[in-house]
Amino acid sequence: MPASADGIGKRYMGREIAGVMGWQGAGWLERPEREREERTDLLVAALQLRPGDVVADIGAGTGYLARRIALAVMPGGKVLAVDVQPEMLRMLESMARQAGLTQVKPSLGTETDVKLAPSSVDLAVMVDVYHELAYPHEVLGSIVRALKPGGRLVFVEYRAEDPNVPIKTLHKMSEAQIKREAAAHALDWERTVGTLPWQHVVVFRKRG
Ligand SMILES: C[S@@+](CC[C@H](N)C(=O)[O-])C[C@H]1O[C@@H](n2cnc3c(N)ncnc32)[C@H](O)[C@@H]1O
Repeated sequence: MPASADGIGKRYMGREIAGVMGWQGAGWLERPEREREERTDLLVAALQLRPGDVVADIGAGTGYLARRIALAVMPGGKVLAVDVQPEMLRMLESMARQAGLTQVKPSLGTETDVKLAPSSVDLAVMVDVYHELAYPHEVLGSIVRALKPGGRLVFVEYRAEDPNVPIKTLHKMSEAQIKREAAAHALDWERTVGTLPWQHVVVFRKRG
């Protein structure tokens, strides 16, 4: 299909895939008002993390969430911070180092594969990422392989159901669409958290 202004011209399960946010947008990810606008404290609480957990932050960007998740899995846990843009990973590494968070591990993935070891992850999370994966089926498959049996996969997306959420249409997803796309994988829906101002947190568990 012809690409729309914010899309890549490729459809998947009835939606156009959004374009990737470039590393030049890093400042928006780190904006000081983000905590208040998105209540990232509630987001991290919704993940129900435990000390020692191995968390994969897929599409970690500058590591805004990875740094907060790292604090919640101490002692003993770690955050595998995956991105496809080396520029993002360089910023992520520098900010994590400045914060003294050695348990944040930058990791370069590809457009089709997160490149994590099989059955190595307790929880994988994508915050504002899934809608812009150019190969959503392949990437989701690679994430499911990386999860331990019974591990959790969490989608955090801006709510398409709410016209008041001030985000472009292709960068939002409905809960129904997330569930439809996850159904193509060995994942069981567990719960949806609706406590955040703009996003829903949709939690699945790996089957088997
Ligand atoms: C809008 S940013 C969100 C960053 C971060 N999750 C946050 O909320 O601060 C989306 C990120 O997903 C990354 N991304 C896009 N496609 C990806 C893929 N196939 N695998 C891993 N990361 C990807 C982009 O490079 C970008 O850093």
